[in-house]
Amino acid sequence: MKILENKVAIVTGAARGIGQAIALQLAADGADLALGDVKVEWLAETAEKVRALGRRAECYAMDVANSAVVNEVVTQMAADFGHLDVLVNNAGITRDTLLIRMTEEDWDAVLDINLKGAFLVTKAVAKIMMKQRSGSIINIASVVGVMGNPGQVNYSASKAGLIAMTRTLAKELGSRNVRLNAVAPGFIRTAMTDKLSEQAKEYMLRNVPLGRPGEPEDVAKAVAFLAGDNASYISGQTLPVCGGMIW
Ligand code: NAI
Repeated sequence: MKILENKVAIVTGAARGIGQAIALQLAADGADLALGDVKVEWLAETAEKVRALGRRAECYAMDVANSAVVNEVVTQMAADFGHLDVLVNNAGITRDTLLIRMTEEDWDAVLDINLKGAFLVTKAVAKIMMKQRSGSIINIASVVGVMGNPGQVNYSASKAGLIAMTRTLAKELGSRNVRLNAVAPGFIRTAMTDKLSEQAKEYMLRNVPLGRPGEPEDVAKAVAFLAGDNASYISGQTLPVCGGMIW
């Protein structure tokens, strides 16, 4: 029996990049998938790939920063699947620029999606997991939430917030057998990092002891480990997947 057999997993921002890789790894490990993304039309590709692995996939239009939408969609997911066992808060954006040029709108957009979004989805899903007395929630943070990064004050603050949220909720929900962990990717090859300048990419790579960018699948394998019962005594932790960039 596969480690996630009979489990239902929600992945937000599952249309592409790391979110898609996570959905596929969880499906390969036996889970059925509730896929959320603000770009619902992009989700078809992920859903097809999940189904090709023999698992169920349903797609949901979900802006994680909109509480009414989040509550409605999570209720629908629970009705469609009957139970919700794993939540991966992966949806995230960047609006990079130095402090002096950063607008209030840049700050709000990143904090709303990366941090408030994870809070809203976690709150809706945790209610169900607490009643079930089981669940595993994984927040996709970033190494910059630990080490900081010039030009990313909004993004690094949102990711540091996610790490603190993970620790706090691990303490609040542990007695109901709901675990929370974070994964902190380093420099991973996706559309999000493709748009960085060559200079920024070189700067990042100089700080990677393994000397190469990571792949979305590298992050997905860590998430799948934390999602399943092999990690049943691990909660409140942040696991860096960064080629050795941070300890
Ligand atoms: P991406 O930009 O390729 O994919 C992000 C996905 O989130 C997209 O499908 C997008 O439509 C979706 N999304 C954006 N706003 C949303 C919203 N309001 N509601 C629902 N979905 C929304 O990004 P990538 O690289 O795959 O990143 C995924 C996660 O990994 C993000 O949280 C990012 O911060 C994190 N991360 C990425 C790293 C990298 O090097 N690529 C490094 C560290 C963390």
